[in-house]
Amino acid sequence: MANVAVIGAQWGDEGKGKVVDWLASRADVVVRFQGGHNAGHTLVVGDQTYKLSLLPSGLVRGKLGVIGNGVVVDPDALLSEIARVTAQGLKVTPETLRIAENAVLILPLHPALDKAREEARGAAKIGTTGRGIGPAYEDKVARRAIRVADLAEPETLSHKLDELLLHYNTLLRGLGVAPFEKQALLDGLLKLAPQILPFAEPVWERLDELRRSGKRILFEGAQAVMLDVDHGTYPFVTSSNTVAATASSGAGVGPNAVGFVLGIAKAYSTRVGSGPFPTELSDEIGQLLGDRGHEFGTVTGRRRRCGWFDAALVRQAIKVSGIQGLALTKLDVLDGLKELKICIGYRIDGAFSRHLPAAPGAQAAAVPEYETMEGWSGSSRGARSWADLPARAVKYVRRIEELVEAPVTLVSTSPERDDTIMVRDPFEG
Ligand code: IMP
Repeated sequence: MANVAVIGAQWGDEGKGKVVDWLASRADVVVRFQGGHNAGHTLVVGDQTYKLSLLPSGLVRGKLGVIGNGVVVDPDALLSEIARVTAQGLKVTPETLRIAENAVLILPLHPALDKAREEARGAAKIGTTGRGIGPAYEDKVARRAIRVADLAEPETLSHKLDELLLHYNTLLRGLGVAPFEKQALLDGLLKLAPQILPFAEPVWERLDELRRSGKRILFEGAQAVMLDVDHGTYPFVTSSNTVAATASSGAGVGPNAVGFVLGIAKAYSTRVGSGPFPTELSDEIGQLLGDRGHEFGTVTGRRRRCGWFDAALVRQAIKVSGIQGLALTKLDVLDGLKELKICIGYRIDGAFSRHLPAAPGAQAAAVPEYETMEGWSGSSRGARSWADLPARAVKYVRRIEELVEAPVTLVSTSPERDDTIMVRDPFEG
């Protein structure tokens, strides 16, 4: 199988960066297909640590990076990120980065509305990254968004800004926030245009050519299935579809081009932002997982909520997104725990459910049903083969495979790239 899509199978921050980096070194092109600069991937290469939000990870490995039409692009954030990684020695030019001409732009009014709405929600806030992701996707489906190609047409920009401001300034005034001036926004966009347009093209055509010449494409997902706007814990989700099928519509390739679907899951669970988290631990074990796993958001710096592995939820993520193999990360964080719990379903109003229902009331009422396993006393850190792992750690992984109904094809045992147990190469299908 030539191509691979990598997606998160929980609530994000599963350690996609390390897996994507390894796969990128074996791909010819890396494509982002949804989300925006709400994502955060940390890549450690040699003595350099790269923090990427919008740029496809393959750039770090000298591979062509493509930002697909399904991504919402904040041009200011993109240019700052390019400047930052260029200062670290990376080469980001129109030869190494292509951006879909039909991708939607994030303007300064998007984060302004995102933040104002969150503040107005008070305790009911979603806990967004405040980067304007939701409003930008709303504009796309409302057919009023400004897209990359519009930067070449000042007249189009002017008309679209009129329509956007009619909508945004009404809302912002209502929320007690100062309205935006059209001229300042227009001047800003016209200034950005010559810096962004050289990267723009119909990327679907390039991807088609690459595919026909037998190149390997890696589709790099952001966020994760439980944050998917349809399949996640709605409304506490992001505003894009994060499932593997979006690699097709968000890049402009057919569904048959997506290839092997690799899901990434931590050996426990974490979540940032608000929303249901049935296996969350507010005790000292939750604290320990957070400390050991360095569970702080790359983008927001917020401490992540921690809990036991939720096999019912990961199984659900696997089913709705067609995950064919699971990469299990951070197994070493569980080293030394006396006992481990795996959630196998929920008790809701006295009845057992193997899946998390869609209704918010039922989600909030879901009490996890656990299976308890003995922990291991040895260390799994740095293991590179099954034989390196404590026997009970192997048992834990095998039990997860059974419960989620998918094979674990990779186990990551430390942040180091080579500390990985590779069961099956996703590029080999
Ligand atoms: P938004 O994507 O900024 O609208 O935020 C919506 C929800 O998705 C919030 O709970 C965020 O914390 C969460 N979220 C967005 N991006 C990420 C990510 O890259 N990792 C983990 N959570 C994320």
